[in-house]
Amino acid sequence: MRKWLLGGLGLLLLCCGGGVAAITWFFARPPLDQRVDFTRPLSVPPLAASSVDGEGRRVFELRAQPGDSDLGHGSTRTWGYNGAYLGPTLRAKRGERVVVNVRNALAEPTTVHWHGMHLPAKVDGGPHRPIPAGGSFQAAWTVDQPAATLWYHPHPSERTETQVYRGLAGMFIVDDDEPAQRALPHDYGVDDVPVMVQDKDFDGAQLSMSGRFGGDIGVLGDEILVNGTPGPYLDVRSELVRLRLLNASTARVYNFALADNRPFALVGTDGGLIDRPHMTSNVRLSVGERAEIVVALKPGERVTLRSVRPLGSDLQSKFNGGQDSFDILQLRAAATLTPATLPQALVATPRLDPGRAAQIRTFEFKGREINGQGMDMGRVDAVIVKDTTEVWNVSNGHDTPHSFHIHDVQFQVLSVDGAAPPPELGGWKDTIFLESKRQYSIIARFADYADPTTAYMFHCHVLKHEDEGMMGQFVIVEKGDTPRLPHGLQHD
Ligand code: C2O
Ligand code: CU
Ligand code: CU
Repeated sequence: MRKWLLGGLGLLLLCCGGGVAAITWFFARPPLDQRVDFTRPLSVPPLAASSVDGEGRRVFELRAQPGDSDLGHGSTRTWGYNGAYLGPTLRAKRGERVVVNVRNALAEPTTVHWHGMHLPAKVDGGPHRPIPAGGSFQAAWTVDQPAATLWYHPHPSERTETQVYRGLAGMFIVDDDEPAQRALPHDYGVDDVPVMVQDKDFDGAQLSMSGRFGGDIGVLGDEILVNGTPGPYLDVRSELVRLRLLNASTARVYNFALADNRPFALVGTDGGLIDRPHMTSNVRLSVGERAEIVVALKPGERVTLRSVRPLGSDLQSKFNGGQDSFDILQLRAAATLTPATLPQALVATPRLDPGRAAQIRTFEFKGREINGQGMDMGRVDAVIVKDTTEVWNVSNGHDTPHSFHIHDVQFQVLSVDGAAPPPELGGWKDTIFLESKRQYSIIARFADYADPTTAYMFHCHVLKHEDEGMMGQFVIVEKGDTPRLPHGLQHD
């Protein structure tokens, strides 16, 4: 596992004083090409139990807790929700009122953020409202957005990377009545399967966060877990299988492709289905991004989902795992498959009109700062009038990988360096990868939930960067109102 490290050390000693080349070589981890034996059935997170309360609200219980997991290295100390690792899949329908009671059974503060969800800032789970060890928090809101693959994860100040890495993350599936949802594979865990991809670095049986050689983005593990399963395979019994891909890693970018390079259908992005299936042979996801894809299989065949060289060959890639390749998941088709066909059209999404933008803002991500400033819970970076549309021009000002994520809303990408976005950025998004020195123009509507006293976040979703303060805040106010953020952390 660390052979390259020893080799690098040897070389460094050999040419001691011999300079930059050797040091650069040492810190630039050679590209990995990890192949695995697929020996374990993919574990599928259970659907979270829920009850309906007297007011007709769907109530979920989540408990953040420590535990022990078999991640392929014996018994590993991990964290999870309602279990030892990851969490159950929450599922609710558009229009439903949901309540999630979160309890913190960890020995440190945490929060739970509903990534991709449109909800009031007070229940958004940002770092302003830590849930102390032993404490609890209730989030309640009405689900009001198209069916989508969302997720939940901790968002405490400075500890997000560690908490997610130990296993705190889960999926939140929103359903709606669009006919396309039923036309696509939709049998949870059978032909509609969560695929939460994470890279891990092990030191013996324990998860290690010290393997930070070279990269500027935090842990880059050399082993892949899918839903917590190492070397996973999935038995498929129908001609089409829908995979809900979620990059639930802390730093690593993936470029998903099938090993034989066959095309598959991209059907959804972060915030829901796209207008029609787009055939492609690869889809890139940075941390926090999702894609729903549909793969067609023939009876009896085995096809491997891989991640291949996600970042091309520039500097941004060389130091940050951008040239690594991994086996992710093997799909094993049964000898006879249930027939299935892909719908031609999915949903009709209206495009937001930049001509109606009330504001145009510019954000440059550089170092650990956005527009030259680090996170300050007392500063409001954008005051947004409720029920207006804004255009944000977002760019990455240097060679480190960064991404852009905004809470509360789903946005549309208007352009990348002035050109039309590629299909994988063509649908509703809440997170995008920022390639070096490129400008992404996005548009979002801030429809409701004015609250002058509570901020939402926007930030880089490389979790180390987020923890280091690469975040900003926006507040939604009624027209004519101004933000009034309380000082310090909030408690209910
Ligand atoms: Cu997925 Cu502010 O986070
Ligand atoms: Cu989020
Ligand atoms: Cu970043």
